[in-house]
Amino acid sequence: MKALIICVSVSNGSTRRVADRMAEVLSAELVEPEGVDVDQITQYDLVGFGSGVYFMSAHPRLWRLVCRLPHVEGIPAFTFFTSGAAELPLVGYSRPIRWGIARRGFRVLDSYSCRGLDTVGPLGWVGGVNKGHPNDDDLDAAAAFAIRVRNQIRPPEAAS
Ligand SMILES: Cc1cc2nc3c(=O)[nH]c(=O)nc-3n(C[C@H](O)[C@H](O)[C@H](O)COP(=O)(O)O)c2cc1C
Repeated sequence: MKALIICVSVSNGSTRRVADRMAEVLSAELVEPEGVDVDQITQYDLVGFGSGVYFMSAHPRLWRLVCRLPHVEGIPAFTFFTSGAAELPLVGYSRPIRWGIARRGFRVLDSYSCRGLDTVGPLGWVGGVNKGHPNDDDLDAAAAFAIRVRNQIRPPEAAS
């Protein structure tokens, strides 16, 4: 199985740490949005889209990539985020970008999120909140999530 993980992590590297762990368990290629060869996207069996949450949204660099992607025929995809606060059901940050990915023809599977060190604005004066996150438990949960997603598209006995 050929997997690609695309990640934007501009603040404290929290989302990148999650992406690194997922890439490790999936043996995935890990790139930033600008590193994606959009003409080659159909070569992948699974694509992960990840971002820190900035002003209630995925980073504009991820959005720009999604807009550049060609239409695909049901390539399985998943999303992941780190954020200062948990997502609220009615004003979710994940919904718009997941919708954008689905509009490109991807079959959008589950989403993973955990807290990341948040040093935005005055929070930085006190060293930020969610210190130590993502922690080992968050990263283990990210790895378990990635394996679950892989097994959704490929039964465990076929996985290598
Ligand atoms: C400019 C900026 C805006 C942010 N806006 C939000 C927000 O709207 N909601 C939230 O929960 N966290 C917000 N955060 C916190 C980040 O989502 C959090 O720190 C995340 O882990 C950053 O990921 P990164 O270190 O990979 O960039 C913001 C952080 C920054 C720097």
